[in-house]
Amino acid sequence: MNLDIELPGWLELQSAAREVRENAWSPYSNFRVGAAVLTSDGRIFSGCNVENASYGLTICAERVAVCSAVAQGFTNFIAICISLNGTPVPCGACRQFLAEFCEDLLILLDDVNHPPETPPERVRLSELLPRAFRLDRE
Ligand code: THU
Repeated sequence: MNLDIELPGWLELQSAAREVRENAWSPYSNFRVGAAVLTSDGRIFSGCNVENASYGLTICAERVAVCSAVAQGFTNFIAICISLNGTPVPCGACRQFLAEFCEDLLILLDDVNHPPETPPERVRLSELLPRAFRLDRE
């Protein structure tokens, strides 16, 4: 799987993910996550994790970013950047959620301990979630 593709918007994507991370609502875990998705026509949509006193209702940053794009009518994703303090890999639920739109999505794993503009590690969604569950679409 080609991970070395030109991704002209990666810097902007990283800064969107880092910026939205500041808005994380994470009073229970104190763990802030930001995510930003890039569409094929160069648009960026971002989201942060939103926790709840009823813990199981918590929504991850990745899903908030995707829902934000979908709500605006954009579903053609080519990449997502996830920014957090540590090694950012999407949780299992988010992997399936992302695969709905692009099974081979390029994922940028941005550890905020690295200075801004450090190129994040890259991985393909198909590597993290081989054989994603699918249903035939009408
Ligand atoms: N979290 C995300 O936002 N994305 C992930 O991929 C993993 C976990 C959030 C959920 C929760 O608010 C906090 O991180 C700790 O699990």
